[in-house]
Amino acid sequence: MNDHPFPTQLIQELRQAGHIAILTGAGISAESGVPTFRDAQTGLWARYSPEELATPQAFRRNPRLVWEWYAWRRELVAKAEPNPGHLALAQLEAYFTARNGRFTLITQNVDGLHQRAGSQNVIELHGNINRTKCFEEEVIVEAWPPTDDVPPACPYCGGYLRPDVVWFGENLPAAALVAASTAAQMCDVFLSIGTSGLVQPAASLPYLALRHGAVVVEINPDETSLTAQATYVFNGPAGQVLPVLWQALTLNS
Ligand code: OAD
Repeated sequence: MNDHPFPTQLIQELRQAGHIAILTGAGISAESGVPTFRDAQTGLWARYSPEELATPQAFRRNPRLVWEWYAWRRELVAKAEPNPGHLALAQLEAYFTARNGRFTLITQNVDGLHQRAGSQNVIELHGNINRTKCFEEEVIVEAWPPTDDVPPACPYCGGYLRPDVVWFGENLPAAALVAASTAAQMCDVFLSIGTSGLVQPAASLPYLALRHGAVVVEINPDETSLTAQATYVFNGPAGQVLPVLWQALTLNS
């Protein structure tokens, strides 16, 4: 008798997996208080949509507005704490790597909460809001002189500084995309957690896994385009489902 809601077959498949790949989206940070992308923008930013702000054109048009939006989001993220879903994924990674398994965590999120939860091998498909780079040269800039300028100027070329995140219409970091696609094509089990699956190329990753015969698990309170094709679907919040999955996996093992 299972004292957890997971099929015995799935627990066995996870225990026997040589390579686990995970894709997370904004949903896994929702229980940390970080609004998902499709949540309505709140307060000051309610009248803007991410598509209007997260683009190179928006930045060229109004660099101050875009920089201030990211400064607001950076503060929001700094106040957020990793939730039990993030922590469970960090525990799962330690569990699999301790058994010489491969564990690849691919995230669309830019909040850095996986790393703060202790995850080691994180592929950031869309960058990280806590990193800053030069808008002109694309080099990461760790520090710049204090200034009242908004955005601040690159200390190397004088161009504007910007957050090191992927904007709409920009390419994803090539190395991250190759690593993510490879993991999706090599893994034995692929978990898609907290993503609407609306934005490419991340949205294709679970299908790469399905195509080569991997077990695909979806964890999301809502249905998505993946739901009908996933091997297992758990309609619940990641912060509740993942800790129970972790317990089920490590029970008597
Ligand atoms: P979305 O906001 O599109 O989708 C969030 C998903 O998480 C939805 O399917 C929700 O149902 C689900 N969800 C909400 N709360 C949850 C919870 N507690 N546990 C699990 N799931 C929950 O965010 P993403 O799919 O991540 O791209 O969006 C993908 C990309 O679209 C973002 O990375 C961003 C945006 O354009 C860029 O910035 C380039």
